[in-house]
Amino acid sequence: MSTIINAYDWVGAAMQSLDNELHWENPEPYKVGCQIMLAWEEYYSTVLGPTPKKSPNLSRAVARWAYLYKYAASHASYIYQLVSKSAELIDLLQSGSRPNITCVGSGAGSDFLGIIKYILKSASSSDPQFLLLDRYDWGETRLSWRTLCPKGIAFTPHFRQIDISEESDWACWQEQLQNTDLFVMSYVLSELHCIKNKATPFLEWLFRNARSNTLFLFLDNGSCGAYWWFDNLANSNNVRPISRSYQDRDELGILIAGQLGMDGDDNKTKSSLLKPYLSIVKNVFSDLRLDMRWPKEESIVAYRISIKR
Ligand SMILES: C[S@@+](CC[C@H](N)C(=O)[O-])C[C@H]1O[C@@H](n2cnc3c(N)ncnc32)[C@H](O)[C@@H]1O
Repeated sequence: MSTIINAYDWVGAAMQSLDNELHWENPEPYKVGCQIMLAWEEYYSTVLGPTPKKSPNLSRAVARWAYLYKYAASHASYIYQLVSKSAELIDLLQSGSRPNITCVGSGAGSDFLGIIKYILKSASSSDPQFLLLDRYDWGETRLSWRTLCPKGIAFTPHFRQIDISEESDWACWQEQLQNTDLFVMSYVLSELHCIKNKATPFLEWLFRNARSNTLFLFLDNGSCGAYWWFDNLANSNNVRPISRSYQDRDELGILIAGQLGMDGDDNKTKSSLLKPYLSIVKNVFSDLRLDMRWPKEESIVAYRISIKR
């Protein structure tokens, strides 16, 4: 039986998991709102523009909250849409085997949620082993997903706190990384762009040592240079595109000209879990940045689904 899941439900629950740290009720929501606004401004100013100057700091709960609110549901929805239109990704998830999926820079795990959503909706019996890599621990968020997983479904993501710009952090995980069947890189290359020299050894290693037929799902902001970086790494390591967007204007007819919006399930209701926050944020931000008032619902994206030959 297929299960419909709404990405906003998951994200609302993940945001609730940060409540204890944020003290919405005490001393007053507006103070929390201001902290969030500052965290958001800091986050936004670092990632804005074609060449961000530094990686955002997501070590503080307010920054993680702001990220969840603004981006997590839409990224999960984008990943879900890309997976559900790709014959190769569907084959992998319907094969009955236990594919190994590694999400690089997974953070809140929007990439994980998007794939889980596909599995639940398609009633696939697949039970992938997920390895989520990030330099920040989003432990409270992962715990909250577990409570939302339908009973009897394992979906236990393994998390490794790894800074991929530090070889000493990732070198010991090479064997596990090489066993990957699908690498997901969702909105991470744009964040690493400012430390390109330091991040390239990890990515080079990954592309060079991936087994043949390993799949790569890349998704990022269409207005930054992240997709050039991905294409260069792929070209020089025999990783070939199966489908792609943006520059190619969707030559396989997968999605309209690189633009992605939320899928219908997400739009029908914004979820009772998210609703209390929507009104607080709307009040707090009414005179401030429009960007923060509402979760991202559509954007110009660059995506690639590629395979190692
Ligand atoms: C924009 S978020 C993307 C999160 C998620 N993949 C998504 O699509 O919503 C980028 C993530 O990359 C992580 N990241 C940035 N630099 C990193 C590094 N040097 N090593 C590991 N993770 C990093 C950040 O902590 C953050 O969680």
